[in-house]
Amino acid sequence: MPDVISFARGAPAPEALDGGLVARCATSALEDDPTVILSYGTGGGYPPLREWLAAHHGTTADRVLITNGSLEGYVFLLETFLSPGDLIALEAPTYDRALLQAQMHGMEILPIPMQDDGMDVDALAAACDAGRVPRLVYTIPNFHNPAGTTISLEKRTALVALSEKHGFWILEDDPYGRLRFEGDPITSIYELGGPDRVMFSSSFSKTLAPGLRVGYLIAPPDLISALVTRANQTYISPAHLPEAAVLKVCEDGLLDPNIARVTELMRVRRDAMAAGLVHMPEGTRCTPPEGGFFMWLELPGDMDADALLPVARDAGVIYVAGSACFTEGHRNTLRLAYSGVSPEEITVGMERLGAVFRAA
Ligand SMILES: Cc1ncc(COP(=O)(O)O)c(C=O)c1O
Repeated sequence: MPDVISFARGAPAPEALDGGLVARCATSALEDDPTVILSYGTGGGYPPLREWLAAHHGTTADRVLITNGSLEGYVFLLETFLSPGDLIALEAPTYDRALLQAQMHGMEILPIPMQDDGMDVDALAAACDAGRVPRLVYTIPNFHNPAGTTISLEKRTALVALSEKHGFWILEDDPYGRLRFEGDPITSIYELGGPDRVMFSSSFSKTLAPGLRVGYLIAPPDLISALVTRANQTYISPAHLPEAAVLKVCEDGLLDPNIARVTELMRVRRDAMAAGLVHMPEGTRCTPPEGGFFMWLELPGDMDADALLPVARDAGVIYVAGSACFTEGHRNTLRLAYSGVSPEEITVGMERLGAVFRAA
């Protein structure tokens, strides 16, 4: 059997991880501030990084919570801001772990279909008008996981207007937005709606290294204070050494060059995967993304990506079946991550995948 090429993991390729950069910044941080970094810290995260993030987002540190990866902040929100049975709107498809956690926490889920230019805001409006007003709308604005799409400015504005009309909160989760291959960045929903309507989360997992586990959430001070207590009760404080290393990277002006480097690595991979789409069966739908890590495929007819996964594995390639990203159905969809493999592997993997699908 050939070595399995994994399009399943949404992680950066080994070349994207700069160990030397992190080592230098961690050493320098420890030399500067050993006692704070090596002691028990506060539940909100390494205070100077909280300050830096607050300034970066034009807000104050009492609105910033640093967590061990951004998923943790989302889970804290489910546990603190929401209660079991609350209605949460999730894009369909959405990030599989966001869906899983909402289900594990007993939320009622309102799935909002996705379109090429992001969530179908009209469908959300129709649900609200019919009395199904969610307490929270969770959205991934840029280079969506898994759909690859970016929500248009018009829809961002319409979403904010809808939240004002119906009083729901928005959580804008944007770990991929800085990894743009082409086109211009679009104003964030957080900037459009303001901090009393929109919460914002992001992460250094995709721009620097996921193993550092540094993510953050921006939310109103009362809520952040409750989440800090929650964090403190759970793990006392998040790991301060990686946070201090991240701060050094940011303060020394090293984040932007790293993002430029990683973006170029990802662009080449996106191009290799887009070229490999020629191997897919006729009628396969895919809109190649303008940034990020993922390509989303809809197979023609009643083809079943769940059932074909073991066949693909035997042929030496794996992916995430798209059905994991929906509450039900959609077995003809799949997510391909180009982020973690080399362009050469992508070329071979797409040939293998195309052969499996065409034979099905
Ligand atoms: C949309 C989205 N949000 C959050 C996360 C979690 O990232 P972190 O490593 O910061 O927990 C991911 C990771 O794949 C993601 O795709």
